Amino acid sequence: MNVGIMARWQRAFEYWQQHVTLSKHFINSSLNEDLNTKPTVVILGAGRLIDIDCRTLIERAKCVHLFDIDPSLEPLWQKELSDLKKTNSLYCHFMDLSNSMAIWTKKVHLFLKKKPSAHQFGELLAELKPESIFLGDFYQRPVHLVSLNILGQLGVFWRDRIFEMCHSKYPGFFKSHGTFVDVIESGLQNSIRELEMQHLEICLQLAPEKLILITDLYYHFYRQTESEWQTHDALAVGTEKEVLELLAKDKMYSVSAKQSWLWHIAPQGVEEAEYGEIHEVGAFSLSLQTT
Ligand SMILES: C[S@@+](CC[C@H](N)C(=O)[O-])C[C@H]1O[C@@H](n2cnc3c(N)ncnc32)[C@H](O)[C@@H]1O
Repeated sequence: MNVGIMARWQRAFEYWQQHVTLSKHFINSSLNEDLNTKPTVVILGAGRLIDIDCRTLIERAKCVHLFDIDPSLEPLWQKELSDLKKTNSLYCHFMDLSNSMAIWTKKVHLFLKKKPSAHQFGELLAELKPESIFLGDFYQRPVHLVSLNILGQLGVFWRDRIFEMCHSKYPGFFKSHGTFVDVIESGLQNSIRELEMQHLEICLQLAPEKLILITDLYYHFYRQTESEWQTHDALAVGTEKEVLELLAKDKMYSVSAKQSWLWHIAPQGVEEAEYGEIHEVGAFSLSLQTT
């Protein structure tokens, strides 16, 4: 997955700069609010560290825990954060943060062997529940947790996997133009909602003093020759307001800063000749209430 991100970044470097700068700036200003205490910084979906400022992490964090599914990232993390590595303050965790991809894939694989109808397959997807996951209890406080543009990716990754498993063998699962029939789409959306909900719960699991969520909110598609854009929700779990309500967790958290911007992720003619893609990104900084 990360090789894809890197390749896209290289192809569209100049178009990504603004997004990368805004993301780094938002995280830096949230981490710098309290200059007296050095936090433990936990980053979920750290990836290639494109959208985070490593220098500031080194200066501001007592220690850093990086999480990602992709173990090939380790040498890059060690190199980029070598000062933290020298003081044994860098912790690398490679895990599927949903803890469900392998188990769900196996379930789907076995189910497809029974040649189910579209309806039966949609029902299976709708019933999937994520496995529980524990990030550990070894973090020195205060903890600042960053969910770094992973929330919307969970569903993209899962959808791609389902597509790969079905597209050549089960033509009856698709409409003529290649999208899933409604009953499967609805089951898939349900499973994606479960993954996103679980991720928001994981963000709260450590009860971080500061919680920074950066996520795609909408995907916009355009053609250079047309004035109308097509817009799709990036998240299945709900609107920005609903996500913030889930994170506020009975008013334990309040929003201290928020921002949004457009990320021209795939300009027309760079990725696809026929259309271009722009993501609308939301950045939210929430603080634990200390009453
Ligand atoms: C859009 S990227 C975020 C950009 C990233 N910060 C970077 O600089 O490359 C999402 C990251 O989430 C990771 N990811 C996606 N699904 C995951 C999962 N289930 N568990 C852990 N990490 C996951 C990907 O490997 C990727 O690095």
